[in-house]
Amino acid sequence: MPRNEPYKTYRDLPELAGLCRMTQAVKSDWSLDESVTRLKRIHYVLRRLHETFIARIPGEPIYELKTLYSHHAYLCAEQVTAIRSRVSEMREPPLGLDKVPDALLEGTLDELSRCPETVQFLSGVYSVVLPACLAACERLRVDAHPIADAPTVRIAKLMAYELTELCDTGTQCVACLSSDEDQPNISDWEDHLTAYLKSSGSIDGTAPCTESPPELRYPDVQKAYQHEPQRDDRFRDPYNAGVNPEAFLYDDQYAASDKTLMIYYKRLREIDVPEVMATILTDLGGAEPWEFHKEMSRQLWDEARHAMMGEIGFAALNLDWTEIPINFTWSKNLNTQLNPRERHGVLFFIEQGLMPKTGKRYEWEVASESGDPLAKLFQDFDWADEVLHAQIGRRWYVPRYNSLNEAMAYGDKCWSQVLSNWQQYKDEGLTEHRNWWPDLYSKFCRLKGVIPDPNTLAFQDTYEQKRADLENL
Ligand SMILES: [Fe+2]
Ligand SMILES: [Fe+2]
Repeated sequence: MPRNEPYKTYRDLPELAGLCRMTQAVKSDWSLDESVTRLKRIHYVLRRLHETFIARIPGEPIYELKTLYSHHAYLCAEQVTAIRSRVSEMREPPLGLDKVPDALLEGTLDELSRCPETVQFLSGVYSVVLPACLAACERLRVDAHPIADAPTVRIAKLMAYELTELCDTGTQCVACLSSDEDQPNISDWEDHLTAYLKSSGSIDGTAPCTESPPELRYPDVQKAYQHEPQRDDRFRDPYNAGVNPEAFLYDDQYAASDKTLMIYYKRLREIDVPEVMATILTDLGGAEPWEFHKEMSRQLWDEARHAMMGEIGFAALNLDWTEIPINFTWSKNLNTQLNPRERHGVLFFIEQGLMPKTGKRYEWEVASESGDPLAKLFQDFDWADEVLHAQIGRRWYVPRYNSLNEAMAYGDKCWSQVLSNWQQYKDEGLTEHRNWWPDLYSKFCRLKGVIPDPNTLAFQDTYEQKRADLENL
């Protein structure tokens, strides 16, 4: 019953802990069932978007989109987790969070995940599905009872805030990658997805679902996904393994100030880690629980951030990273030669195995000593991230084996099985394994106004006989 009298609080303090006015709080048009139903539908869409972003990382050649998908997959994973935890508080066991809440929502997400064309995919995500998700969160925030269902209102508010940023960045990407001629196709595709979504009564199911869905455009197509990593044109000579940065980094004869350049290179090259993690996650899929996907998605995003730290390092030094080969054969070889459990083994072995003697503390010490404050800052956080990744590995990889030693040995064995194809790539004319170090180092010195050290300039270790942990091949 609506109140007639204005509600009085002590000395006119804000009512109801500041959540809403009493006039709003006395309304009873909300229920726990409605809350759970809407949350589950939004959850489903975000989970499918997460999975779709991840699956597109290896096959997407454009570096900026690889990092964008890594970021947005991570944000979707965080939101999915927030919803799961809220649903679990609402008398829901069994939670039913792995069920498809609506076949028409499923159809919309299937179409999106199968879309073979990048700009259309982007416009579908950022101009149709995510804006609809954002609208559903806004409705949830407004409709849910502000006191009785306050935890839901809170997450709806936070999600809407984040989704606004996702949509803004994504629509900028569509604008940058499309031309006027693309517009009719883009609009047509957006109309198609919108109609599909409409047929399901919108993401939260609050709209009437009278119309029948349009015909699927990609009914027989698999989702857009490939193991073979792709790189855009700026990645020149990507088969080049003519410089072994680890051999340089861990050699005492070289100066810390020069080693930071190699550290930045190593960071940037880490864009290959999201490419490998994406195939681990996609191939394992439902064989692992949500918590696995959530934590590994965080790690995947961290690795994309590490690559961006390298990119920033080059920019800070006024060096053009596109002039040097950023090797991609680690992700290529792992993704095409190993199964997902083996790839996970290699990932864990490298992260854990490099940790103590030649690992992240060492890189941070080198960066601290180098006099480059940005390198020090980045390595400080890179180190912290890697400690987290080792913990994630201990939670999700090690328990599959009898002991840590056995888990490590398995990763080492899998890595040894990977053929580096160093000679083969050369014989096939894919690369000359040119030693790019002297050029880069000379330019680095010129920009700093210092004379290159002849011994440092002469560095020429390759990956022909040694892998990144300096074990012989
Ligand atoms: Fe990393
Ligand atoms: Fe890592």
